[in-house]
Formats: sequence, C-alpha cells, structure tokens
Amino acid sequence: MNKIAAISHLQKDFIDQVFELTSEVAKKWPNVEKVGTGKTICLLFWEPSTRTKLSFEHAAKMLGFNVLDFSPEHSSLKKGESFEDTIKTLLAMKVDGFVIRHPEDNISKKIEKLLPANVFYINAGDGNHAHPTQGMLDVYTMKEKFNELKELKVTILGDVNHSRVVPSQIELLKKYSCSDINYLGPESLISEKFSPSFSSTAENCLANRDILFILRIQKERFKDSDSLNEANFINDFQVNNNFLTKTGFNGYLMHPGPMNIGAEITNDVADSDKSLILRQVENGLYLRTALLTLIA
Ligand code: CP
Repeated sequence: MNKIAAISHLQKDFIDQVFELTSEVAKKWPNVEKVGTGKTICLLFWEPSTRTKLSFEHAAKMLGFNVLDFSPEHSSLKKGESFEDTIKTLLAMKVDGFVIRHPEDNISKKIEKLLPANVFYINAGDGNHAHPTQGMLDVYTMKEKFNELKELKVTILGDVNHSRVVPSQIELLKKYSCSDINYLGPESLISEKFSPSFSSTAENCLANRDILFILRIQKERFKDSDSLNEANFINDFQVNNNFLTKTGFNGYLMHPGPMNIGAEITNDVADSDKSLILRQVENGLYLRTALLTLIA
C-alpha cells in the first residue's frame, strides 16, 4: 500500500498499523528513524495550506527525505504546461513520492494512473472528495481520548456539504464500528445524504454527545447555487459559551482548522480545556511521520 487517495481504499489493519506507529512516534519525537535518507518527496499544493503542508514538510525532513516544494504559481504551469506533463517532468527528476492538494474532486484517479508502482502518493485534500490524513489524525485523536470508538457519539456542526474532511472521517469512524454520527447546521449546508441531521438547537440537545466536530464555512467551494445568511448562521450555530450552556454540550471540541474565529467558533471556546484543536495539529505531525515511514 503506497497510494493513499481515500480512506475507502484502505484496510482497517493498515490504519491500525498507522495508529500504532503514530503513538510510537509521539513518544520518541523528534528521534525518528531516518527512513527517507536518499529519497526525494515533492509537495504539490494547488491550494493554500498551513497544517497539512508544513506538517508533511516537517515530518519528511525529520525522516531524512530531500523535500521539493512545488509552487504552481511559480512553475511552468503558468506557461501552459499541463498537470500530466508536470507530474511526468517531476518523475523524470527522480522524485520518489508525492503529497498533492488540488481543487479537483477526482484528481487522485488521474494521479494514480500517472505514477509508477514504486512511487508513493498521499492525497492532501482534493476538492470536497477526500482528505485521508485529516480523517486519520482526527480519529486517532478521538481514540487517544476514548480508546474504544464503538459507543462514541459524534456531532458534526456546520458546513458539511463542502467538507472533504467529513467523508474521510465518517468512513474511518465506520471502520471502527462507530455509527452514532449526526449533523447540526442550516439545511442549506447539510444535504440529505448526511443523516440524521438537525437544523435547530433545542435545550440540552447535545447533552449526551462526546465530540462536537466544528467546521468552517468553506466559501471557496460554494457554487453559484449555494447561499448562506452568515449572520443567521452565527446567531444560531456559533459555538460560544451561550451555545454550550443551551445545548448542554460537555464533551470534547474538535475542528480540522483553519478556524474562522468569531464565525463558527469563539476564541474562548477554541482555547478551553475541552478543546482538542491543537492536539489534532500535534497528532497530525506524528501521524504523517508514521504514514511516510510505512509507505515510503
Ligand atoms: N485541516 C487542514 O487541511 O488545514 P490546512 O488547510 O491548513 O492544511
């Protein structure tokens, strides 16, 4: 297994291995095995990123990889070179593996066809299709707190429709037999395929939930037909202290980042004792180190 395009393609045994190694990496960081020595990895990010790109870069350098940072804006794509020719060109430069973020939903299929069997690939987010390493680090963080996920009660709040994190997370939670997942937010942001869903917050409606997974409004993926009254969204669904009191939520708060403070979440809630948001970021570094170790 050296092509990580989506969670649905992965066996649970493999994920277990990734999680076990993540835990070992966390204990011994920064003393990791230099499995990347003599190998070159290329990071290609067609969209902005802080967490995913820099954690892969940091992990890869710690593992001894030579890291190439491909910037589409400053590449020959600007002179009309195609995506396919760009990949072929980098392969000719003896790149051993790629980490790619791209706005197109099905780019991973195209990439997998272009890459030889011995070249590894990790999808770092494609359109609103998948973000497998985010799904893995989120579920790893849940396992760190709860160990057994079968009985876990997860509520996903906000812009579910435009999220690539959600499909990866729910596929992975299902692999761990977690089935109590529901969705909260405006109807316009949660399509029927995400069920059960709720578009209002009754008193104590989140009192028995373990995880509240909060999503940013991903405006960059809105189509012309999508609309949202942001003031109403903030009034009804912003996770602030009043919201927590009203809904009775007393579990852990998660967010894949980046957060829009003052929109879907307030600063005091993001910084509270119940927030796992920075733990997610830290685990992302360990998990990506583990994943590169296993597939490179
Ligand atoms: N969660 C996530 O993918 O964050 P970045 O866009 O900062 O990588």
